Amino acid sequence: MLNILHRSVKSFSVRRYTTNLAQPTAVRIVEVGPRDGLQNEPTLLPTETKIELINALSNTGLRSIEVTSFVSAKWVPQMGDNAEVFQRINKLPGISYPVLTPNLKGFQTALKVGAEEVAVFGAASESFTKKNVNCSIEESLIRFQDVMDAAKKTHVKVRGYVSTVVGCPYEGKIKPSAVVRVVDKLLEMGCYEISLGDTIGVGTPGSFSRMLSEVTKIAPVSMLAVHCHDTYGQALPNILTSLDFGVAVVDASVSGLGGCPYARGASGNAATEDVVYMLHGLGVETGIDLPKLVNVGKFICDKLNWRSESKVNRAMRKTNTNA
Ligand code: HMG
Ligand code: MG
Repeated sequence: MLNILHRSVKSFSVRRYTTNLAQPTAVRIVEVGPRDGLQNEPTLLPTETKIELINALSNTGLRSIEVTSFVSAKWVPQMGDNAEVFQRINKLPGISYPVLTPNLKGFQTALKVGAEEVAVFGAASESFTKKNVNCSIEESLIRFQDVMDAAKKTHVKVRGYVSTVVGCPYEGKIKPSAVVRVVDKLLEMGCYEISLGDTIGVGTPGSFSRMLSEVTKIAPVSMLAVHCHDTYGQALPNILTSLDFGVAVVDASVSGLGGCPYARGASGNAATEDVVYMLHGLGVETGIDLPKLVNVGKFICDKLNWRSESKVNRAMRKTNTNA
């Protein structure tokens, strides 16, 4: 599926790959609800409820559940119980429970409580990086290198996020070349996977295709994931477009919870129930039990007093369907 054409060794040039366009037969979903879904929620949710949510998600067939963030509680108060949540969840074999770590301090705390996978989070936009992690892109990469070095010594896996891959709340449209540059740096550092984030959900199949055409020239598609917020209702078409490029890892948030505290107006991620329904309809395996997932969506929406953003969730509960 993937042919390595050329790998340049010049200092500022990048790896080049070509892919043939073939949809994957199986997709791994990275459930980001407990982190991305809750981080923006102004009312502090009891730690007990977060643990119950994650434990219930662990019983749906998901293999990756992003649990929390080891960021400053002054910046993101909802994640202030990170260590307790991480320590008290039931960790089932075969499931990874990654956490966000923006710097060495976050990494060290995560390591202390036993994290085996972390994620660093960069962005293609300079202004977003400044608002999100209070430094420039270049400085953020230096901090990630520190995390990476420590992770290598301790055998911790590192995932890399690149936010604002098609649009930025402060700078507008983002050029694919800006995304390519950060993706290349994160791969060079040793991230095992890069999640391409449409942080404010402004992408369309057009802008996703343009971005992915460039990114897949320098990154093996097997190392890419997509992370589509649904502000403009384009998350599913953007995921479908990404599948056509061969992307086989999709981030999603149960019942479409969430947003980013530094991207005002952005709505939640693609709802996991909707993504699973679409994938199963395409004959793509996920290993996820959809009715069980729908119940987890109901559980967390009841706790938050929210209406589920997932149309599949609402439809299945109305009609009591076992999809
Ligand atoms: P800073 O203020 O620049 O950091 O924040 P600093 O190094 O100057 O330290 C200031 C204080 O923070 C100190 O404490 C540090 O100890 C503390 P003080 O002396 O004032 O008491 N500190 C920390 N505390 C806990 N954990 C840490 C940590 N580091 C420093 N790791 C920092 C820099 C990155 C910490 C801050 O900007 C921050 O926490 N930002 C939050 C970023 C965030 O969580 N954003 C949302 C997640 S990203 C996202 O949602 C996008 C994504 O979903 C993909 C997409 O949608 O595109 C992933
Ligand atoms: Mg996000």
